[in-house]
Amino acid sequence: MCGIFAFLNYNVARERRYILEVLFNGLRRLEYRGYDSSGIAIDADLRSPVAIDKREGNDGGEEASRLPYNSAPPLVFRQEGKIESLVRSVYSEVDAMDLNLEKSFSVHAGIAHTRWATHGVPSPRNSHPQSSGACNEFLVVHNGIITNYEVLKETLIRHGFTFESETDTEVIPKLAKFVFDKARDEEGEQTVTFSQVVTEVMRQLEGAYALIFKSAHYPNELIACKRGSTLILGVKELSDDKNSGKLFHDVKALTKDEKPKELFFSSDLCAIVEHTKNYLAIEDNEVVHIKDGCVSILKFDYGREKPASVQRALSVLEMEVEQIKKGNYDHFMQKEIHEQPHSLTTTMRGRLKDNSVVLGGLKDHLKTIRHSRRIIFIGCGTSYNAALAARPFLEELSGIPVTMELASDLLDRQGPIYREDTAVFVSQSGETADTLLALEYALGNGALCVGVTNTVGSTLARRTHCGVHINAGCEIGVASTKAYTSQIVVMAMMALAIGADKISTQARREAIINGLSDLPKKVAEVLKLDGEMRDLAKSLIDTQSLLVFGRGYNYATALEGALKVKEVALMHSEGMLAGEMKHGPLALVDETLPIIVIATHDACFSKQQSVIQQLHARKGRLIVMCSEGDATSVCPMGSCRVIEVPQVADCLQPVINIIPMQLLAYHLTVLRGYDVDQPRNLAKSVTTE
Ligand code: AGP
Repeated sequence: MCGIFAFLNYNVARERRYILEVLFNGLRRLEYRGYDSSGIAIDADLRSPVAIDKREGNDGGEEASRLPYNSAPPLVFRQEGKIESLVRSVYSEVDAMDLNLEKSFSVHAGIAHTRWATHGVPSPRNSHPQSSGACNEFLVVHNGIITNYEVLKETLIRHGFTFESETDTEVIPKLAKFVFDKARDEEGEQTVTFSQVVTEVMRQLEGAYALIFKSAHYPNELIACKRGSTLILGVKELSDDKNSGKLFHDVKALTKDEKPKELFFSSDLCAIVEHTKNYLAIEDNEVVHIKDGCVSILKFDYGREKPASVQRALSVLEMEVEQIKKGNYDHFMQKEIHEQPHSLTTTMRGRLKDNSVVLGGLKDHLKTIRHSRRIIFIGCGTSYNAALAARPFLEELSGIPVTMELASDLLDRQGPIYREDTAVFVSQSGETADTLLALEYALGNGALCVGVTNTVGSTLARRTHCGVHINAGCEIGVASTKAYTSQIVVMAMMALAIGADKISTQARREAIINGLSDLPKKVAEVLKLDGEMRDLAKSLIDTQSLLVFGRGYNYATALEGALKVKEVALMHSEGMLAGEMKHGPLALVDETLPIIVIATHDACFSKQQSVIQQLHARKGRLIVMCSEGDATSVCPMGSCRVIEVPQVADCLQPVINIIPMQLLAYHLTVLRGYDVDQPRNLAKSVTTE
């Protein structure tokens, strides 16, 4: 749930100020992943009084004398709070140290981190980079969790290490120093390479992680490795054919070439796209070493003494810089809500052909899916809600029982999953720890595992047998909006593809395919409710609580609408199945509690009309969402507030209906003065259990 970033310039002069800004900007792009503290490490000047960390009155002593002749302890800056507070503190510290920001480096390796606290409160000492000790001989930024850190910590303490933080991460640089010192004491100087140190450290670590190492013993080098968490290498060549647009570019070419270049590591593509489109999604157990402008990759294998060298191809990123910028919008959430006509078009592009659906990532597995005993949707939060919205249509078209599992609950119960099951994992980020653990569990039980994700190269995309990318574009607001609607559309297309062998439903399928083609236009129409939803938000600004009732296709809309309001507007809000109203929730109804009832036209409409009547009879404060033209039939006496939305095919209606709820949550948040894109206590991807 953190963001890691690194920048290495090779054979191209970059001033210290430029390097700092690249690192800060990388962190700004990753801030949505975690934003309670952050830090960076850059090089000091060659060994001189300023190079020894005088900020803490520490001259490095014996430790410093162990550093190579031309090396100086790197400078580490860490700060609590958002990235901008780190930026301010770095510039003021640099000023106090009299560090020359115009100093130019022809090669330099800097690392950076933005944190969402798991082990230890947000504070400078718990922020990353974490250090091996006084002279910052080894520095590490980490995304993920080290599960055996307590055992490692005890061992390192027995060997004389002292710990300063409460993090699980601190064991990593200390372990690196332990491995390095041991090798050097046994075999003398220059015997152990940086990658040997890191592979030995990896051998000791348990858990899920992406790591970047910087070391004073290996100046101008960086090493990145991962197990579980996503990690990307970006390559920007600065010679004539820069970003040549070649489709594939072999990493091999980077193993012996002294051309000027800039190299980046990042937890995701958002921080890379403004620099280069050439990237490599690093795979589990790979150790990527940058040295003398060359990139070498080793594949770590527990069984083997020595890791093997591997060759990988660079991919070309299909993402535009605009995607990671707010443009004319005030917030990413607002931009992403309004982007939905476009994101849905991208989701469907090339997939609807001649009254049929073509999903390349699924076509070889359709037969197996059709023969499954059961389809299980598994996800968390919004992704779970999207699957819930798609469930009735998949049941209808496939005739296969479809069950729902919240990933954490499935794991808690160790619920039964069989070889005859198809398990569909839904995750925008493709990184959510609970979903990935549930995926490992389902793989272990022999189920066919299908992924639905927005993140190419994510762990979910790589670990599932097959799947579909939702292609919604980069989603930066912590509150998922456009990914939700694209997920529903992808799962509707999956249902159409799975059910494509049935003559009996052909007419229904064709109607839905037509409806899909029309959907972006209808979404653009419903977005015109923006002003109306702002007015509604004004009327709700001081309320304590909000209920949302839905059923059928729109039970998911009720859950997702309520989730949006609670996560960003920080207002208590509950989505409820309208069919359950009389079994408890009715007791809450009075003249003050606002209740939104979703009553658009579908098979459940008359039941929702009766819900409205019952709530009305108890003087409920009602807001009804209905199809255009239905206002008088849902609210005969004009006694409730009505939101009229365009009508589309029943199974696609959740895509339309969620949009006023997203707008309401957005405006409520702005009006209540809360942070829209980075809500309290949350981060975009939840990479710990
Ligand atoms: C969405 O608004 C939430 N931030 C959250 O519920 C999210 O959907 C959930 O954490 C799952 O994330 P994923 O889709 O990346 O797996």
